Amino acid sequence: MKLSQCHNVKDFRELARRRLPYPIFDYIDGAADDEVTKNRNASSFDDCDLIPNVLAGVENVDMSVTVMGQKMDMPLFLSPTALQRLFHWQGERAVASAAQKYGTFFGISSLATVSIEEIGESITTPKMFQLYIHKDKALNASMIERCKAANFDALTLTVDTIVGGNRERCLRSGFTSPPKITPRSFLSYAAKPAWGLNYMLREKFELSNLKDHVDEGSNVALSVGEYFNTMLDQSMDWDMAAQICQHWGGQFCLKGIMSADDARRAVEIGADAIMISNHGGRQLDGSRSPFDQISEIADAVGGQIDIICDGGITRGSHILKAMACGATACSGGRLYLYALAAAGQEGVERIMGKLREEIERDMKLMGVTSLSQLDRSMLRWR
Ligand code: LAC
Repeated sequence: MKLSQCHNVKDFRELARRRLPYPIFDYIDGAADDEVTKNRNASSFDDCDLIPNVLAGVENVDMSVTVMGQKMDMPLFLSPTALQRLFHWQGERAVASAAQKYGTFFGISSLATVSIEEIGESITTPKMFQLYIHKDKALNASMIERCKAANFDALTLTVDTIVGGNRERCLRSGFTSPPKITPRSFLSYAAKPAWGLNYMLREKFELSNLKDHVDEGSNVALSVGEYFNTMLDQSMDWDMAAQICQHWGGQFCLKGIMSADDARRAVEIGADAIMISNHGGRQLDGSRSPFDQISEIADAVGGQIDIICDGGITRGSHILKAMACGATACSGGRLYLYALAAAGQEGVERIMGKLREEIERDMKLMGVTSLSQLDRSMLRWR
């Protein structure tokens, strides 16, 4: 299977599966408990059908949207995700370049493998930093100050990882950051020598934004669940979120909001955006899907805060459905991580190009020239 044979997210997932040692593939692909929520995130789009209005004169289509004051050339951005140089040696650098090429937000994670400063210097497209609140207060303050100095456009506080999710694929494989080769996983690593050579011979793996404060994750191997359980501050509450929002002073987003009540509180503390997200089903299995929750949240806070639908998106039509329900924009993690793992920067650019084409084609087929023309009258639930 070659890059030119990858036409959609599923194809890239398959190529990633062939190229990665299984503990790493399962870390990306896996989710919590029975993975019901992860599967529902994707299938929820299929319970709803689009109703086009034709003969609309659609030769010029504008798919730009404004999120947190930043104009994006397309309504999909690359959610912050951890550990990217483990998936492909180009890691965040590849993903940032693809975001730049398509004129959309790039989000880097607190658990990124490239520094805030390097991303700040290398791209001009809007940049978001995803913050985990650690028990180590100096570390939290340092990340916020570094983002200010590097001119990041938005700070996104993740609020759905107060404890680690039960990721049974990772329990079985023994996946840690940095990876530990166990007797059981040895053959899988040995069977993917290209990944192994890149991992051993390229720049040393590190968690660039944490390493000066903590050894865990860069030099001490931990599972992501253990990291959340031991390093993050479980006392985090709305007061703390409000303080972080004030301390940052710029565009502020809460990632992992699922209820209309919490969306209202996000407006009250002065947040500019919320990401409706269940962390790709990796935390609370049994949680509702982001797409299923958009209408309720848009009815509560639409127009007062940007609403981003994060989860399960693999098609341009999914984005149109989310926007019709009231989302301001959409985002995704796995949708580009498979492509990164499969083929680095070329892979991420290819999937973003495919999704961009799908959005444009589907807008034309729906008879709309701008995304603001989409509304719930164009949807029916089965
Ligand atoms: C995860 C974190 C690190 O879901 O975002 O694995």
